[in-house]
Amino acid sequence: MLRTPVLAICGSLRADSLHRGLLRAIERRAPGLQLLGDDLVPQLPLFDPGLDTPDRMPTAARELRLLAEGCAAAIIASPEYVHAPSGVTKNALDWLVGSTGLYGKPVLLMSASPGQTGGIRGLAALVPTLLAMDAALVDPVSVSHAPNRIRPDGEVLDAGLDLRLDIAVEQLAEAMPVSVAAR
Ligand SMILES: Cc1cc2nc3c(=O)[nH]c(=O)nc-3n(C[C@H](O)[C@H](O)[C@H](O)COP(=O)(O)O)c2cc1C
Repeated sequence: MLRTPVLAICGSLRADSLHRGLLRAIERRAPGLQLLGDDLVPQLPLFDPGLDTPDRMPTAARELRLLAEGCAAAIIASPEYVHAPSGVTKNALDWLVGSTGLYGKPVLLMSASPGQTGGIRGLAALVPTLLAMDAALVDPVSVSHAPNRIRPDGEVLDAGLDLRLDIAVEQLAEAMPVSVAAR
């Protein structure tokens, strides 16, 4: 089966990350999507505009940009730290700004938190950044009381979240260019 490449950014570096769990849950229910790039994100140095030139660009940043250019969509799973998106997420986006990687592409934002707001404030702060990058946002998924609903391995413990993830995948596929979504 030819799978549709989708850029996946996990904004948490934690070993038992629930955000990686959300990405895995998407992979489990959408075998037609190939989530790529998560391994590159931890290798990115802190963004330095002085390195944003063809001869000085760090390898991980170059690879992330190439990957983004070739992807049909992106999924960003970002924790909220102190009411803001994680630095890991923002750093990855800063490296992508100089590319056309997200132009016009559907982007699904996801967050998870043990608290009642599910990390939505972190996602809200990403919206203007992504719109400035010309991304086409689909309905976000933010998961409150997350340890009761999702496991790091991607197992979903909650029927409501199951349904929300199904809808998110459907919306992402619908928003992809027809030629890509039909693969
Ligand atoms: C330094 C720090 C700050 C946090 N701030 C918030 C916050 O403002 N709002 C919130 O809902 N959760 C907050 N959390 C909880 C994280 O959302 C929670 O740990 C989440 O599961 C992290 O994602 P991960 O499981 O993918 O690592 C914070 C956690 C840490 C370590």
